[in-house]
Amino acid sequence: MRCSKCLLCLSALLTLLGLKVYIEWTSEARLSKASAGPRGVLPGPTSACPEPTLPANLSARLGQTGPPPLAYWNRQQRQLRALPGGDSAEAGGCQAWGAAAAAQIPDFTSYPEDLRRFLLSAACRSFPRWLPEGGGSHVAGCSAADVPYLLLAVKSEPGRFAERQAVRETWGSPAPGVRLLFLLGSPAGEGRPDLGSLVAWESRRHRDLLLWDFLDVPFNRTLKDLLLLAWLGRHCPDVAFVLQAQDDAFVHTPALLGHLQALPPSWARSLYLGEIFTQAKPLRKAGGPFYVPGSFFEGDYPAYASGGGYVIAGRLAPWLLRAAARVAPFPFDDVYTGLCFRALGLVPRAHPGFHTAWPAHRALDSCAFQDLLLVQPLSPQHSIGLWRHLHAPQPRC
Ligand SMILES: *[C@@H]1O[C@H](CO)[C@@H](O)[C@H](O)[C@H]1NC(C)=O
Ligand SMILES: *[C@@H]1O[C@H](CO)[C@@H](O)[C@H](O)[C@H]1NC(C)=O
Repeated sequence: MRCSKCLLCLSALLTLLGLKVYIEWTSEARLSKASAGPRGVLPGPTSACPEPTLPANLSARLGQTGPPPLAYWNRQQRQLRALPGGDSAEAGGCQAWGAAAAAQIPDFTSYPEDLRRFLLSAACRSFPRWLPEGGGSHVAGCSAADVPYLLLAVKSEPGRFAERQAVRETWGSPAPGVRLLFLLGSPAGEGRPDLGSLVAWESRRHRDLLLWDFLDVPFNRTLKDLLLLAWLGRHCPDVAFVLQAQDDAFVHTPALLGHLQALPPSWARSLYLGEIFTQAKPLRKAGGPFYVPGSFFEGDYPAYASGGGYVIAGRLAPWLLRAAARVAPFPFDDVYTGLCFRALGLVPRAHPGFHTAWPAHRALDSCAFQDLLLVQPLSPQHSIGLWRHLHAPQPRC
């Protein structure tokens, strides 16, 4: 009698435990772009740290060998020599590229609207800066006397004023060697409220907004990456490291600086550091988040650092731009960055301090943050709370 009660208790406990594991697993899979693959492990110091190279034919680097593929991206990548050139004089070229893409995909009309829009303009990658009325850019380049060690490049959207302000008040606040910039598309456009004058005021007030004249939607995030890389080449070529993060990330900036300064120089030179997904596969549930049709892309994703936040070596900027001109467009910015690194023959490095599928309900427990470098997503309020917490005298764990 007693024992059957015990068994009942035990089985109930096991069921609950199973349920908890399942819920954690599904919530994590939901937050990430891909069906979960194994997390990357930190490669040993003996693994190769090659210099970037860009072979004449990228097929082998990008795993596009073997029988002719059926999916559009894979076919495109095999035959692609270079995307139509960057300047606006060739806009016809990039539009034509999009129209050809649509024509070559048999079920194009069944694609989700944002993917169709992406493909039609994916090769159009050069956009002018968006400048407030009355003109004038409010962002200074890096002066020779003041080259940042770490540039915090934060992808935001015009309406996300509170997220930006929380970053300025916390992990992006002024510190020696650190510079903060937000990357945004146009604050006006396509039936949206016109935030132009508000954003112009913010830009004058803080001088930390890099704005370009394109529609600010998630599938245009790769434009922010590429336009930033081009800006760096012109205005800040000697920056040592660039953190690319979303505006709902939280970064323990002092700990990240410490980690970067302690890296072996050979790692630091080709750095691509974050939470790494390896062997991730595209999600195939039509209508679901991050859906990728089988007729568009086949195979696994490259190993890539989650777009919630990752760090690259600044000297790779021109290399990544050159690679991007020859890697077929892909709608997710972080997967695309992973493809470009793979094209250059560079491997991402995983660090357990990057948490980019942070369940919102997880308690802010001081001991859980001992080795934290970055968490995402976090609300502006939670970011402020956590920043204060990290600066309070620490209880022993
Ligand atoms: C690259 O090499 C593959 C074979 O590995 C070939 O099918 C493809 O046509 C080549 N691409 C270019 C652009 O030369
Ligand atoms: C990205 O921005 C360009 C320029 O504003 C626009 O033509 C394109 O449709 C946008 N992409 C998406 C996916 O909406």
